[in-house]
Amino acid sequence: MSEIRSIGVIGLGAMGAGIAQLAVEAGYDTIGREVSVDLGEAAAGRIGGFLTRKVEKGQLEQADRDAAVARLRVTDDLSDLAGCDLVVEAIVEALEPKQELFAELERLCRPDAILATNTSALSVTEIAAATTRPERVVGMHFFNPAPLMPLVEVVQAELTSPETVDAAAAVGEKLGKVVVRCFDTPGFVVNRVLIPLLNDCIRVLDEARVTPEALDAAMRNGAGWPMGPCTLVDLVGIDVHVHASEALYEKLREPRMAPPPRILAMKNAGLLGRKSGRGFYSYD
Ligand code: 3HC
Repeated sequence: MSEIRSIGVIGLGAMGAGIAQLAVEAGYDTIGREVSVDLGEAAAGRIGGFLTRKVEKGQLEQADRDAAVARLRVTDDLSDLAGCDLVVEAIVEALEPKQELFAELERLCRPDAILATNTSALSVTEIAAATTRPERVVGMHFFNPAPLMPLVEVVQAELTSPETVDAAAAVGEKLGKVVVRCFDTPGFVVNRVLIPLLNDCIRVLDEARVTPEALDAAMRNGAGWPMGPCTLVDLVGIDVHVHASEALYEKLREPRMAPPPRILAMKNAGLLGRKSGRGFYSYD
């Protein structure tokens, strides 16, 4: 594969939209796919809004903002991504839909295209196994909010070729990220450590009988976290955090990985954090 020039992003939720924003800012022709054109256009509007805010703050020139916005196209038709050099998947965190999508992408995309998954806690190897060219499948795990968090983990699955890893790492660097390469193990590097830590934090709420505000203040001021754990789980999404915890617990069987009852109850009640308007905190 020659140099990567065009990127497709599938799923324009918080993560996918953040990745698409990074791609257009870095100069890639970018196509974002959502299940409906309305959802795609809403995501494009949010991306444009963030870029406008960067202009207002003096972080981006107006002309560069306009050029970046012009590089983004949205579609509801997966076949529009057929010409992309790299496709990054950021859909729902469940193995079966991801495997179906990768099998479909294999049919649609050029044989030399790279297919990347932004999965948080699923196995890249199992996703790649749905295709007949697992050597072209790699993990590119971004952190929320993707435009602001400096890291991308580039995950080498069992059959990923070194060339594919190099190409994904080169894109990560062009997006301005710190690239950490790792092998496909449950939770990769950061979530292997962060998920049980956040679960401990949630258990401490009940054990030490402190409020989310107090716990957040403790971790910010006593451990130097930029954002307290309750604020962070609200940002990531209660459902996303529960899913990542369950996936890690299933693979590693460590009790600290299992989602605490309190957060399961929140998920069941529809308190999903910022995106639903209420989690540990309320959002207007
Ligand atoms: N693009 C551009 N700008 C954006 C943006 C985006 N997509 N999203 C937010 N911003 C802007 C906001 O508009 C805001 O600017 P404004 O207030 O001037 O308009 C600015 O970014 C953020 O302002 P803050 O004052 O809140 O910024 P901070 O200096 O506090 O930093 C932070 C924010 C980088 C998010 C910091 O709080 C932090 O590092 N938090 C920890 C986040 C973290 O740990 N994430 C990892 C989660 S785990 C994960 O993602 C793994 C997954 O698999 C689950």
